[in-house]
Amino acid sequence: MVGQVAHRGGTIVTGDNSSGDGADELLEFDTSVAHIARVQDYWLGGKDHFRADREAGEEAIEAFPEMVASVRNTRAFLARAVRYLAAEAGIRQFLDIGTGIPAVDNTHEVAQAVAPESRIVYTDHDPAVLAHARALLTSTPEGRTAYLDADLRNPERILRKASTTLDFDRPVALMLIAVLHCVPDDDDPYGIVKRLLDAVPSGSHLAISHPANDIRATEMAAMATRLNRVMAQKVTPRSHTDVTRFFEGLEIVEPGIVRAPEWRPDPDTSGASTMWSAIARKP
Ligand SMILES: C[S@@+](CC[C@H](N)C(=O)[O-])C[C@H]1O[C@@H](n2cnc3c(N)ncnc32)[C@H](O)[C@@H]1O
Repeated sequence: MVGQVAHRGGTIVTGDNSSGDGADELLEFDTSVAHIARVQDYWLGGKDHFRADREAGEEAIEAFPEMVASVRNTRAFLARAVRYLAAEAGIRQFLDIGTGIPAVDNTHEVAQAVAPESRIVYTDHDPAVLAHARALLTSTPEGRTAYLDADLRNPERILRKASTTLDFDRPVALMLIAVLHCVPDDDDPYGIVKRLLDAVPSGSHLAISHPANDIRATEMAAMATRLNRVMAQKVTPRSHTDVTRFFEGLEIVEPGIVRAPEWRPDPDTSGASTMWSAIARKP
């Protein structure tokens, strides 16, 4: 964990300078309630979770025993997607919203391995992710990385802040990997994605991976119910038709909107997934 961490009851306070802007921040987060960033870290085998997160993670696994394989397959999709975008679509700018606690194959590592000059802006609203942001600021000298502590539900703020790193006159890949299910219908996830897409030029791409409610439907419904009982953020799995709506007006790249391991698999890609995953290009 970055910085000094001190327990104060259920709260952690860390004096940290991890956003990379030179300002000291006081980070406070409640460890008594599960948070999706830390639950995800538990599923991925990381070290940055607390009892409430582990219990929530286990609740989900009880409802859907292949949860860990599915989460790891989503992470592998993220890496293949970034590799495709950098190597085949020629993208050099990435806006990765809902970054999560750093794990294997973070977006900048994959993109800059292909094209060292790539620029990446990471965004998350969880203080636990902010506390680890320094691990995301390890850019190549030719490229740049930045971290924004910001909420997807305020895309204008994200776009404004990201514009100091990204040039919105040139194509950008919008990475929304396993985050849109944290935006309930009442918060207008379709409108949010449209506002992001409206701000980027032709040739930009949208990558989404989204929990399904129409794959292993009974288990997924049980998992969402269990998580929503105990987790701070509520999750909304969506159907193939619902996920297709996010790509309205875009050219969907082959093989279309498929389960994560079916999207341009590597030879060793295998296992369960309940995540609809796709990439599309803005014409
Ligand atoms: C399931 S994790 C996915 C992390 C990473 N994208 C991956 O695929 O490994 C979801 C992440 O989205 C973040 N998140 C959820 N709602 C958000 C919001 N409204 N604004 C910004 N980040 C959000 C959470 O804090 C968490 O880190």
